[in-house]
Amino acid sequence: MQVKKRLDYQVPKFQIECVDLIFDLVPEATIVTSQLSICRVDINSKDALILDGYELELISLSLDGRRLDENEFEVSDTQLIIKNLPENFILTITTRIDPKHNTSLEGLYYASDAFCTQCEAEGFRRITYYLDRPDVLSIFTVTVRADKKAYPFLLSNGNVIDSGDLVDGRHFVTWHDPFKKPAYLFALVAGDFDVLEDQYITRSQRKVCLQVFVEKGRLYQAQHAIQSLKKSMKWDEDTFNLEYDLDMYMIVAVDFFNMGAMENKGLNIFNSKFVLAQPDSATDEDYFNIESIIAHEYFHNWTGNRVTCRDWFQLSLKEGLTVYRDQWFSHDMTSPLSNRIKQVNVMRSHQFAEDASAMSHPIRPDEVIEMNNFYTVTVYDKGAEVIRMMHTLLGDAGFKAGIQLYFERHDGQAVTCDDFVAAMQDANHYDLSHFSRWYSQSGTPEITVEQVYDAQQRLLTLNLVQATPSTSAQPKKHPLVLPIKYECLQADGKLVQAKEDQGNGVVVMSTGSLTMSFSDVDESSIVTLFNGFSAPVKLNQHFTPAQRLRIIQSSQDDFVKWEAMQGLYIQSVQYLVDNHVSLSDQNSVNEILQQFLQLDTLSSWIDKNMSRPELMAELLSIPSTESLLQALPKRDILHLHQARKNVTQYMLYEFKTVFEHHYGALIEHQPIYEYEQLQVNNRRLIGVLLQFLVHEPAYHHLAYEHFTHSNNMTDTLSSLKAAQIVQDDSFYKMMDKFAYEWSHDLVVMDKWFSLQATVERDDILSQLTLLQAHPMFNIQNPNKVRALIGSFAFFNVPGFHAANGKGYDFMTQYLMQLDHVNSQVAARIITPLTQWQLHTPERRELMIKELRRLLAHTGLSRDLFEKVSKSILQYEEIH
Ligand code: TRP
Ligand code: ZN
Repeated sequence: MQVKKRLDYQVPKFQIECVDLIFDLVPEATIVTSQLSICRVDINSKDALILDGYELELISLSLDGRRLDENEFEVSDTQLIIKNLPENFILTITTRIDPKHNTSLEGLYYASDAFCTQCEAEGFRRITYYLDRPDVLSIFTVTVRADKKAYPFLLSNGNVIDSGDLVDGRHFVTWHDPFKKPAYLFALVAGDFDVLEDQYITRSQRKVCLQVFVEKGRLYQAQHAIQSLKKSMKWDEDTFNLEYDLDMYMIVAVDFFNMGAMENKGLNIFNSKFVLAQPDSATDEDYFNIESIIAHEYFHNWTGNRVTCRDWFQLSLKEGLTVYRDQWFSHDMTSPLSNRIKQVNVMRSHQFAEDASAMSHPIRPDEVIEMNNFYTVTVYDKGAEVIRMMHTLLGDAGFKAGIQLYFERHDGQAVTCDDFVAAMQDANHYDLSHFSRWYSQSGTPEITVEQVYDAQQRLLTLNLVQATPSTSAQPKKHPLVLPIKYECLQADGKLVQAKEDQGNGVVVMSTGSLTMSFSDVDESSIVTLFNGFSAPVKLNQHFTPAQRLRIIQSSQDDFVKWEAMQGLYIQSVQYLVDNHVSLSDQNSVNEILQQFLQLDTLSSWIDKNMSRPELMAELLSIPSTESLLQALPKRDILHLHQARKNVTQYMLYEFKTVFEHHYGALIEHQPIYEYEQLQVNNRRLIGVLLQFLVHEPAYHHLAYEHFTHSNNMTDTLSSLKAAQIVQDDSFYKMMDKFAYEWSHDLVVMDKWFSLQATVERDDILSQLTLLQAHPMFNIQNPNKVRALIGSFAFFNVPGFHAANGKGYDFMTQYLMQLDHVNSQVAARIITPLTQWQLHTPERRELMIKELRRLLAHTGLSRDLFEKVSKSILQYEEIH
């Protein structure tokens, strides 16, 4: 299969000035007429015009009004080639497509009685022949014609310039988008919806009409979305001076969608789970996600649409920056601590895993087979961490000046990551040339720390060394620039500055090694490094449990306390697993951990700090089994999973009375539901405490009680998760009641499917087979597939990783089926199977066996081919 390389980039031979599209919408046979006014870029060249196209039926083709014969052009599966063209000309192309049978959900598709498009990255070529690349920017005028009764709303980008009735009960609307855009930002929606309307007045007093389109009868679930949009618009004005630029901003919620949402100019299309919310159907987490994804897509209007990417290798230019912007927004809207922890957990448990896998790539990849495979945690989340480091290095004012220069230089252009870094550098007269290696080097740097104390001089020295493990694409790795935030804690609680501090609380490491020194300090000083995850690295720094307990009690930084507590959990699991402690004997586990950790000394501190529910909810969250595997690679994941449960039991044994007391106190004063930070924090802590308590038979009944008393989805879900741990009759009673109550709501039922898929029971595979036959399950709906099959593969540790390999076998069979329906979704949920690197040799072999089976499967998509073949190759290189 064809590999595309970043360094092969060539400027386009032709530009398309204007596009006029006419859609005659019919579910099984839509006619698309496209009129392109095209000009040659280099007037002296004789290059042929090569348009992209995929699964199109060409009906007719005319050049400057003259119909072309079949011998005047060439059509292949992926291209339309026309030779002997003049300098300027008009091409008219008519194609027929079948939206109804388009299950890939790319291009134009028909689902839930509506037409909908998804063109990023290369979906426009499934609609008509075009120069489907982001550096071809054009002015779009779009006419949509369809049956008026079935599709009263005909939407596209920009503003309405014409509309009216046609014969046979059809009607039309014509849209014009005054901003030049690449084809991936084109959108069209046609259907019947309810609309929530509102208005936003920009800081320069322009009126913008806001509309949220939802399934009929769900208007009451669109309030939070529209409020989130208004907050985002205001925030971008206040923070970056960026205003919205059209008279209309539309958001459409659809049930069939491959990802979260899409930033099409003036017409965002959203997965309905990131729009619809009301207290009894959405959790606090759902409310949070809706607000941050609405913001993300809104922010793309500047970082992505006004300034877009030159080619898809530059994807992080828009995604890394926009994720950084939405994280900053969420941080301002909600709470810094839990947000940062969430982001760091994504990096550690998903991005680090990706970087250790065969899919490891720099945030600006060098080689791609299927572009859809590069919408990754590396490009998005590590990309955002790279932007954050620039912010740390340049300071707030410098960072904002850089952003301003970036827009001054590049508004209306398609540019590269280098252009972005250059703007940052030039606005600050700060040399970022070494820093920019973060764009080209893949892998996770590992930092080791050695500490020396000179008692005579009362001088503490830390020697840091960085190294990045090699990857097959990049055998030799170089040192990166790392901003280090730190704390040097004294016995009296005071903090001491490092000699190497730049004056802003940051020490910068820019070569392979670095010395940090602290003078006139105690021998018992504790230095914590990379606080707040100031660089995306793995840190090997040894602390004893006693030191960690001291950090928890006396650090001035809550994030640092959280890190210390995480360290204690990981250390405990490691101690149990590596010393072969008998995990079935909880009493002896308790004794061993008590001796090792001395956690009883923390009891009164915990009791006192329960008045800080956010901090305590974070500290009492034991790392997931997946993050434990990351921190303790090559252990048997089932042992880690069991040890995690033992640590949970031990915590309960140690703090039972405190947990019980505070759980009781918290549920006593539960207010009427509001999505509001204080309430969110309390509910979070309640859920965490409940999940501890039900590990003891005496508290099993709490889950059912919590369920019965709940008046919101957050508490309901906490109680279901607790009951799932107990797994007695009441769990299934609750699940039945839930399904009965919510059978009308596709979004809510995903929670039910996901709970079913993560039950730890021996017959889980036959359960999954039964659930696939459930009337609400549909393999064509990505949300359903992710909820049932994805949750199983990602989160059902004993089921998916069963020692007999049956979980892997189940997944493989499912992927073979799904790949023909929707290869993009298949290539996402295969991830756990390609992360064999962290597992024991026996599991690796079982997983590789399944990957080989997939590779041999006939008709394998490019999406799966790329991931599977790379993974097998990596295995063969190692073994
Ligand atoms: N650009 C979108 C975002 O990050 C994501 C996206 C890329 C997408 N490809 C997609 C969304 C395909 C849906 C389907 O906001
Ligand atoms: Zn995005």
